[in-house]
Amino acid sequence: MKGIILHGGHGTRLRPLTYARPKQLLPIANVPMSQYGLESIKEAGINEIAIIIGGNNSQKVREFYGDGSNFGVKITYIEQDEPRGIAHAIGLCEKFVNNEKFLVFLGDNVILRKLSDYASEFEKSSDSAKILLCEVSNPKQFGIADIFEDGSIKKIMEKPKNPPTNLAVIGIYFLTSEIFEIIKNLEPSWRNELEITDALQVLLETKKRISYNIITKYWKDTGTIEDIIDANKTILNNLQKYCNSKIENKSKITGNVIIEKNVKLNDNVSLNGPVIIGENTKIENSTIGPNVSIGKNSKIKNCSIKNSIIMDNVLIEINEQLENSIIGHNSKITKKTEKTLILCEDSKLEL
Ligand code: TTP
Repeated sequence: MKGIILHGGHGTRLRPLTYARPKQLLPIANVPMSQYGLESIKEAGINEIAIIIGGNNSQKVREFYGDGSNFGVKITYIEQDEPRGIAHAIGLCEKFVNNEKFLVFLGDNVILRKLSDYASEFEKSSDSAKILLCEVSNPKQFGIADIFEDGSIKKIMEKPKNPPTNLAVIGIYFLTSEIFEIIKNLEPSWRNELEITDALQVLLETKKRISYNIITKYWKDTGTIEDIIDANKTILNNLQKYCNSKIENKSKITGNVIIEKNVKLNDNVSLNGPVIIGENTKIENSTIGPNVSIGKNSKIKNCSIKNSIIMDNVLIEINEQLENSIIGHNSKITKKTEKTLILCEDSKLEL
């Protein structure tokens, strides 16, 4: 089986963060989001992966993943000229797939459940596709599956006005090469994209079998800031605590806390897990956590931070509380009486 990670898209809902890097490289618990997808594909026994790139700063994806050898896989990059839809991106992979079965993972989806049993079920079956479903409270915002009484899939539809179920089709699809001919004949949807839900619906209409499994463990499609902060909280909660630095002073550390190498904390620091602190980061006179990731080479002084993601090389020195925040790489937040602000487009600042 082959693997495909979708790493393109507009990322409009995550601006301005996505001006600097593709959303799938935003860190969750100090690891780029799409790396969780890559690890899931690898765990399913797949070592050959195509990454679809396109749009803003896609060279950063190549720089991070390289040829895949650092991650124990072989990576091929496939360029998508414009975000013309998930089905369009998959359609670019026909040669790469070379008639094998394949697993598609949207690079902004995060799940905790492992995929290897589903992968082997699909490998052995004669099904044309396998999809994963998850109950959601806001079904109008997702691709939704309707199910017959005998349990088979009746219909798959994109963001229905009157959802027949609350079973969202999550961004992980097991497919066969049959899908390529269907994609070639798809018409763009109202949002001018080739929709994977439309391609799956054509499979159903031509009496092909789509199997499914319902996921009950955590799944998140991280389209918005709130989703990313939520995924960060869940992933942090599921990590094992460890400390790779010598912390000899009286700082208070409670709960699930991960401390990487060469971290310095002064006496007046409290870390309330779950929290992760990256290499070479210094913290003074601050309360951090719960649900906080701080990247490497950062300096945090005199503040309290909860439910937030602070990336690498950040300086924060304020007598304030930060909550539900995402602070990009190389940012500086300091206190001054007179304010000079330089903000990029689409920034949001509440003082
Ligand atoms: P979406 O979240 O549906 O779209 P988006 O990334 O353009 O974001 P926004 O709605 O905020 O503008 O995309 C789902 C996943 O598929 C995501 O990982 C990006 C990827 N994708 C592609 O690789 N190519 C595409 O043409 C599209 C539409 C999405």
